[in-house]
Amino acid sequence: MSYRNDPYDPKQVALLDQRALDDAVEAAGKAFAAAADPDALTALRHQHLGDRAPVSLARREIGALPPAAKSDAGKRVNEARRAIESGYAARREALEREHAERVLAQERVDVTLPYDRRPRGARHPLSTLMEQISDLFVGMGYEVAEGPEVELEWANFDALNIPPDHPARGLMDTFHIAAADGGPAADGGETGSGLVLRTHTSPVQARTMLTRQPPIYVVVPGRVYRTDELDATHSPVFHQVEGLVVDRGISMAHLRGTLDHFARSMFGEQARTRWRPHYFPFTEPSAEFDVWFPEHRDGPRWVEWGGCGMVNPRVLRACGIDPEVYSGFAFGMGIDRTLMFRHGVSDMRDMAEGDVRFSRAFGMGN
Ligand code: PHE
Repeated sequence: MSYRNDPYDPKQVALLDQRALDDAVEAAGKAFAAAADPDALTALRHQHLGDRAPVSLARREIGALPPAAKSDAGKRVNEARRAIESGYAARREALEREHAERVLAQERVDVTLPYDRRPRGARHPLSTLMEQISDLFVGMGYEVAEGPEVELEWANFDALNIPPDHPARGLMDTFHIAAADGGPAADGGETGSGLVLRTHTSPVQARTMLTRQPPIYVVVPGRVYRTDELDATHSPVFHQVEGLVVDRGISMAHLRGTLDHFARSMFGEQARTRWRPHYFPFTEPSAEFDVWFPEHRDGPRWVEWGGCGMVNPRVLRACGIDPEVYSGFAFGMGIDRTLMFRHGVSDMRDMAEGDVRFSRAFGMGN
């Protein structure tokens, strides 16, 4: 029997049956509650509130009811629909809030974390010191000159008036470069490659005089090598700064004034140099010089600083400069030692190990 044939009893129009409406509300509520995110909820809207949803179909049935029953049925359908609508809206709000909270949590940025977690390196104080010394001389009109660390034996020794049989060659404990055929170069003579690791920055004197015309004013910072074991006071690799001046009328007084100025700039106004006679094959006369360092950590004292002298005329001549017209002076000092006594570093190895904490302590973090 069709309910349509019994229009007087709205309860018999199945879709308008209160239980059917309640079921529709309940089914919608369950489905909305199960939706995991706003998109899933949207997908359910059609099924529970769309044209073919039970509440929509029920509304259509109202027209078939007798007038007396219409208002009651309309009220109940509207109520059911409102219940589903508000369930939908409440669930949507909840899901959107949840979604926003999740996104906030996932995309949370802790602005108090260190922004720069990869530790930075630091400039080595030796580099900084060599640059400061170069700057000082550049300020006096010098140019910075550089030469190779793998150097011609000729430039390291011969050009500097140190012939193969000269005892001074034996005094410098030299690293010799093996010949290309792998043969030994222990004696550093004709049998070797003719190359050494430079034992001092002085070969750059020769290179400079061969490539520039006087007046020559150069400062030469660089790394040098000798066959010493690494210990608290020695290193097979260390650093020197060399100075060379060749011009007309250069005398020892110029050298003295230059070194005193250098000393004062490095160690304060009270600093000065003291000279002791010495011998270098490439300078004549030669001296070793000490610096008066008032701020030494063991109290004011003279500290051995470097070697110097007037460029030997034999060296000028070997490099194509006429010693009758020009004269010059040269000096050289160890930078590692300078850094050590100036800053109270007691162990050479601290400078060689490359521990960034050592460098940072000099306040030159960049
Ligand atoms: N080259 C010398 C050394 O290494 C130092 C020096 C340089 C001496 C220039 C005189 C002139 O000991």
